[in-house]
Amino acid sequence: MEPILHEFGSLLLRWAHIVAGMAWIGASFYFMHLDAALRPTPDLPAGKGGEAWEVHGGGFYQVRKYLVAPAFLPDHLMWHKWESYTTWITGALLLVWTYYYQATLYLIDPSVLSLTPLTAFLIGAGGIAFGWIFYDLVCRSPLGRSDLKVGLVVFVFVVAMALFFQKVFSPRGAFIHIGALMATIMTANVFLIIIPNQRKVVAALKAGEAPDPKYGKIGKLRSSHNNYFTLPVIFLMMSNHYPITYSTPYAFVIVALALIGGAIIRVFYNKRHAGQGNWWWCWGVAFACLVLAVALCLTTTPAGRTALGLPALVGTAEAAPAPAAAVPGEVQDVVMGRCSMCHAAEPVYEGIATAPRGILLDTPEAMERNKPLILMQAALTHAMPPGNVTEITPAERAALKAWATAR
Ligand code: HEC
Repeated sequence: MEPILHEFGSLLLRWAHIVAGMAWIGASFYFMHLDAALRPTPDLPAGKGGEAWEVHGGGFYQVRKYLVAPAFLPDHLMWHKWESYTTWITGALLLVWTYYYQATLYLIDPSVLSLTPLTAFLIGAGGIAFGWIFYDLVCRSPLGRSDLKVGLVVFVFVVAMALFFQKVFSPRGAFIHIGALMATIMTANVFLIIIPNQRKVVAALKAGEAPDPKYGKIGKLRSSHNNYFTLPVIFLMMSNHYPITYSTPYAFVIVALALIGGAIIRVFYNKRHAGQGNWWWCWGVAFACLVLAVALCLTTTPAGRTALGLPALVGTAEAAPAPAAAVPGEVQDVVMGRCSMCHAAEPVYEGIATAPRGILLDTPEAMERNKPLILMQAALTHAMPPGNVTEITPAERAALKAWATAR
């Protein structure tokens, strides 16, 4: 029962997480675009706000922005915060569900560092919390006055954290943690900075006082940091389904390239929407990042090197031998006979260049390690082998199930 519950939980959480994330990032893109599209009007001159006309869904919209605030507070004020909070909450649950609850499967890699699930959790959650504290201190420090300096310091910090996670977690676990660290900064910006400041402005208005313009400025700044984070974060979240992106010893460089490439694309759009020209060169930089990342993946991941016919890099081939696992001979025969032609370091099945999803099933240790996945994919469901190309029999599936569920 447990694997099935786990599978459903994972599906529902991921669904909710993606939907919430779309709502949040959609709103973030929309408001960045809106800000850039505002034009001064006679009663809202530059510096006091502006107005934009938009057409959508069968009607015309006249949207106005007041800086710092309108003269009076309307009865109906719509807040935009739950998109962000629900994205973070569902993301945190998904992280716990997948990476902390099943730490030995997804987060801990004994060939990187032997950790207990508890220490792995403490390092992961602690690292994410530290990320926010460090970022917030940088923004509040004198460095915070220069966008460029904040950008550079935060960039170096995130890449350093990527290197750190890479030294303690499985490659996949490391990538998701750097994504979670950045996404936590984004939500904390909303929860701890932007919304509280907005409340202060609202409170001042209600008290009939003139709100301090600094609150609006800080909010806008943090909100634009969030905007530059979006594309790299989405890349990092998706990348854990694509082993070729993270199974390189230079995974932290891939993170750096994703940060630069993702942020520069936002620069292009923000400039263009603000009517400050088309900074086409941004796409050149993004493209260069992509080419570099692909070249790095191809030349430094086992999958890429196999595809190019290059010898394995020294030190990257299956490092520290895992403890010998007692997998019954019958099970080994089934997996060897029905799965490992595809799920091997060098697959022999035609058309399969590298182990699908990075899942190796060619040694007893690997089988033991991937037991829950084998159970789900080949015994409880018939997802594997795909189309039953290797003609696994019902009796063989039953043998896999008996082994994987035995206590
Ligand atoms: C013909 C090649 C082939 C064979 C044989 C094969 N697989 Fe796969 N396997 C794949 C491919 C391709 C994928 C990736 C599917 C995808 O991307 O959705 C995959 C994915 C998987 C996954 C990851 C699923 C996920 O979504 O995370 C597991 C686990 C797996 N296979 C187990 C097995 C087991 C167990 C067997 C033997 C009973 C087996 N496979 C046989 C090709 C194969």
